[in-house]
Amino acid sequence: MTDRVVLVTGAAGGIGAATARTLAGTGAHVVVHDLDPEGAVRDLAGELGDRALALGTDLADPHGAPALWRAALEWRGRIDVLVNNAGIYQPADPEGDLGPWVESWQRTLSVCLVSPATLCREAIKTFRGQERGGIIINMASRAAFRGEDAEYWHYAAAKAGVVAMTRTIARQHGRDGVTAFAVAPGFVNTPFNDPAVAVHGLDFFAQDTGLVAEPGDVANVIAFLASGLARHATGTTIDVNGASYVR
Ligand SMILES: NC(=O)c1ccc[n+]([C@@H]2O[C@H](COP(=O)([O-])OP(=O)(O)OC[C@H]3O[C@@H](n4cnc5c(N)ncnc54)[C@H](O)[C@@H]3O)[C@@H](O)[C@H]2O)c1
Repeated sequence: MTDRVVLVTGAAGGIGAATARTLAGTGAHVVVHDLDPEGAVRDLAGELGDRALALGTDLADPHGAPALWRAALEWRGRIDVLVNNAGIYQPADPEGDLGPWVESWQRTLSVCLVSPATLCREAIKTFRGQERGGIIINMASRAAFRGEDAEYWHYAAAKAGVVAMTRTIARQHGRDGVTAFAVAPGFVNTPFNDPAVAVHGLDFFAQDTGLVAEPGDVANVIAFLASGLARHATGTTIDVNGASYVR
């Protein structure tokens, strides 16, 4: 991967940071993005050295996504792989007031679906002008297929949207040299789940199959897709859920 440039969103911790480290370990140049460019992504970029650049954008506003893409593209003059990883998991109580419910729906859809879609739009424009095209990897979730807990309709809906969008891009843009994949984890032991782990304990999440995923388990699958070796599997979603939901 020494001549590849990858943009990983939401790389301050969890799956995004593990993905950036794994890809940098294969020699790739990695743009590590998160909300705050002075926070954990700056430290991560420092750890990875001159193969990494830290950028910050709030993806709650999809209008910010094109500027993020441009800044990432400017760094090495190309991007080969987009990893749309940033996401949020905030509840929306169907029994609660309508205001916070709609707000949570809109924020979740913006961060988990509309901003990733906007980055895909930019990526396709760039990739069709590159001889080698490019690869899009979108983070979906088991929730897209199985459904989610009572306060997370919006999260499941956003991730199902990610799957449908990824399939559409794969079908429509293969001719442009673009391949697109979704990755659908089940429970992964990241800061995302700290509140739930604090309540239930880690063992609770292993009770189905005895397996708990660490961020590296997902990062390895992303790295394989990013390598280009799975080209003809474009449009597929890879489940990384320890067989907690086999479909
Ligand atoms: N952890 C899990 O169990 C799990 C399961 C299925 C899918 N996923 C998906 O995997 C992806 C990564 O999750 P994770 O578990 O590593 O979570 P995480 O919370 O550790 O990482 C998500 C990152 O996204 C960033 N982010 C959130 N809102 C943002 C915004 N408005 N603008 C820019 N960045 C923002 C956060 O700062 C954070 O660094 C997410 O898309 C999530 O939906 C996670």
